[in-house]
Amino acid sequence: MPLESLIPLLDEAREKSYIVGSFNAFNLETVRAVVSAAEEMSSPVVVAVAASHLRYTDFEALVGAAVPLCRRARVPVVLHLDHAETLDVVTRSIRAGFTSVMFDGYGLSAEEKCRQTRSVTDLAHSIGISVEAELGHITKVGVDRDQRDELLIDPSLAGDFISATGVDVVAAAIGSVHGQQAGEAQLDFARLVELREKVQCHLSLHGGSGMAETHVGQAIAAGVTKISYFTGLSRDAVDRATSLLAADPDIRLPALCDEMRQAVQEGVRRQLTLYRSVGTA
Ligand code: G3H
Ligand code: ZN
Repeated sequence: MPLESLIPLLDEAREKSYIVGSFNAFNLETVRAVVSAAEEMSSPVVVAVAASHLRYTDFEALVGAAVPLCRRARVPVVLHLDHAETLDVVTRSIRAGFTSVMFDGYGLSAEEKCRQTRSVTDLAHSIGISVEAELGHITKVGVDRDQRDELLIDPSLAGDFISATGVDVVAAAIGSVHGQQAGEAQLDFARLVELREKVQCHLSLHGGSGMAETHVGQAIAAGVTKISYFTGLSRDAVDRATSLLAADPDIRLPALCDEMRQAVQEGVRRQLTLYRSVGTA
């Protein structure tokens, strides 16, 4: 099947009260793990290539492998560029066949962020690709976590930004931090509800690994339709490798890589279950 557009999947998730899971993938094995888990659970899924992970791969080679893998999936798969910081990487991704892009614009002045985001939506929308923007800033463990509270989304500014830029999805900074362990996130759901009352577009949450299980139901109730998740998968794979290496330091690399892929796949299955999307594809 062709690569899917994000918005119809999020519309359906909103109607049926579940979350579409978005998982970062950066090589053949992680793309396979995400797609296979989605097929096993009959869930729609987003394969999200993070701009910050591109340093670990060859972009053209990754896309060359990912596009056919996603296309031949038995469930709807969106190929998404995550947290782009430059117009250049957005353009390359759209040319390569991505069906969804996220543009951060963090660090730009409000006017410049608005202007660059508008350029992204003009290009993307002209060929039917949706755009996600980050409002406020979702900080990261070990980088800027201490600024979390001052960088939360201001719901009163969201409507003007959405009107000016035409973005389809807003990643709302309500307290999650990229790179946290499960249950560590302290989320400001009152802020999310206030945002929901002011804007119509789809809402996403990032830093999914830090969320507690109970947060998912609260997020769905507040109208969130997409959650981005990665650190937990990284932990799953590294833990698997650590125990295998402890048991057999001579383990061969293909077997080790395959076990790590399986660990990621199991982690995606766990999250799809938590997101209540099982059987919806
Ligand atoms: O953009 C990536 C996601 O927001 C994942 O965040 O690694 O904290 O789960 P996470
Ligand atoms: Zn994120």
